[in-house]
Amino acid sequence: MSLVAITAIGNQKGGVGKTTVTLSLADELARLGRRVLVIDMDMQAHATLTLGADGDYQIDDVLVGEERVGLLDAVVDTDWEGVKAVPGSRNIVQLDQTNNAAMAAYRLRSAIAAVGDISEHFDDVLIDLPPASTTSTIASLLAAEQVIAVTEPEVLSVAGLMEFLKVLDEVRGTIHPQLRLFGILINKFERRSIENQYRLKEILQQVEDPDMVLQPYISKRVAAQEMHSEAKPLHTLRSNGSQVLSSLFAKHARALAGMGVD
Ligand SMILES: Nc1ncnc2c1ncn2[C@@H]1O[C@H](COP(=O)(O)OP(=O)(O)O)[C@@H](O)[C@H]1O
Ligand SMILES: [Mg+2]
Repeated sequence: MSLVAITAIGNQKGGVGKTTVTLSLADELARLGRRVLVIDMDMQAHATLTLGADGDYQIDDVLVGEERVGLLDAVVDTDWEGVKAVPGSRNIVQLDQTNNAAMAAYRLRSAIAAVGDISEHFDDVLIDLPPASTTSTIASLLAAEQVIAVTEPEVLSVAGLMEFLKVLDEVRGTIHPQLRLFGILINKFERRSIENQYRLKEILQQVEDPDMVLQPYISKRVAAQEMHSEAKPLHTLRSNGSQVLSSLFAKHARALAGMGVD
């Protein structure tokens, strides 16, 4: 029996590569033959845009309002082979504005539970988080089994990482003790940058367990921007950089799928 893995991808700071990582892992997992669902919890809905995910319903139809639809009713095919999505929407801010935030925070978890055995439909569910500790973020963490914290080795991103890890600890210490940190993924890494090396050392010193910092680091390559502007997965792009990034993400996808590194 294949068990579904529900993974939230976050950092309190925007622009560190959460969406890029979510989509690239989704693509590489799909290439391993896994059935992947991306849930776009960010009101900016960049994941939705890059995937070309379009349907009658968006995530807010599942999580807010009087007449909510089931999670599976909001699942659409995307332009990326093997990747399905629940499209994001600006209206998800309504979740953050709900009077009873404590209850609202359970809605994604409940929506997934209401599906029944979600592993009949998907092998991996990846949740793309917004860059803040809003109700949408807490709702995503409550729905997840594990978390990938993405960071750039740059001062403000490291601060965002530390804040995110704090939120994670708090969620774990209060309402969701089973939530585990899959690891910290270093993105936009430039080997020759002294600042990057310094910040990397800082991360390794500040985290509880340096082994939580995942290998390999994802290098900084313009291909990550091409992926969004062309709205195509890295492995289908021709540039050398896109192939390099694709193979880096493939290693993380194998680890996520529990397939050991070869
Ligand atoms: N490894 C990378 N190398 C170069 N640019 C990157 C890399 N990862 C992400 N980017 C770029 O950084 C910007 C922000 O990435 P995005 O994934 O949208 O971040 P977030 O979801 O955290 O806000 C985008 O323009 C994206 O193309
Ligand atoms: Mg994003």
